[in-house]
Amino acid sequence: MDIVKVSGIQKSFQPDFYKKPTQVLKNVSFVIPQGKFIGLIGPNGAGKTTTIKCLLQFIFPDKGTIQFGDNQSFIEFKKHIGYLPERPFFQEFLTGMEFLKLHWDLSGTKKDNFEHRAAEVLELVKLTHAKDKKLKDYSKGMLQRIGIAQSLIAFPDFLILDEPMSGLDPDGRILIKDILKDLKKTHITVLMSSHLLEDIDELCEELIVIHQGECFYNGSTPEFKKNYSTLQEAYKAFKGQFEVNYNV
Ligand SMILES: Nc1ncnc2c1ncn2[C@@H]1O[C@H](COP(=O)(O)OP(=O)(O)OP(=O)(O)O)[C@@H](O)[C@H]1O
Ligand SMILES: [Mg+2]
Repeated sequence: MDIVKVSGIQKSFQPDFYKKPTQVLKNVSFVIPQGKFIGLIGPNGAGKTTTIKCLLQFIFPDKGTIQFGDNQSFIEFKKHIGYLPERPFFQEFLTGMEFLKLHWDLSGTKKDNFEHRAAEVLELVKLTHAKDKKLKDYSKGMLQRIGIAQSLIAFPDFLILDEPMSGLDPDGRILIKDILKDLKKTHITVLMSSHLLEDIDELCEELIVIHQGECFYNGSTPEFKKNYSTLQEAYKAFKGQFEVNYNV
């Protein structure tokens, strides 16, 4: 079953009133199958974050449609979404625990009790020891992990992670990958954007490939890389189609 169906969305931005609008999303269509890990890949500026913002209704497409669940209203559907933004905002004067409480309260969830759930997610992201430290004293890796904890606090069924591994050292990446591998054992659906194709290859059985505002592939990862040994090689070959050939 598909939990989201995106059909032909287009989006333009007008950076200033005297400038012409630029079309950032030209034609993006894909489905999100339930219970799968889906990698959203494409170069810088391809439109990945814009697509995610459209899914979350932070912004609205100029054309095209996004269907949630079995024609569910977005207000209902969004209760089941967890989200880690590309550039999360961390209130530095809060402790890890207070930060989680803020997001728990914002979610309005009535499941479980906060202390119990916070202990669970802190354990998952290996931050139990730092729960009473202020976020200003967290390292980049710790902040990224508390960001993931925040995205999980209200028991989401659908998790959207915009570059969860960016800026982390190899150990930090491994830790986040391990967290995601643990999540894989549950029935959660994860959409994650990343430039780290090795990680996408390891974690995501499904792929959405966006290039210059168009979706060129939506399907299984093994199918995308079937003629290549790695996702990097397959992606390099895909990108090759768009490179200017100066020899002609
Ligand atoms: N609010 C906005 N106003 C004007 N232009 C925007 C706005 N948001 C995004 N853009 C432009 O849209 C294009 C796509 O941006 P987007 O952030 O979706 O790319 P991305 O695929 O997420 O890239 P990255 O890999 O660098 O995160 C970029 O050229 C960006 O400058
Ligand atoms: Mg982005």
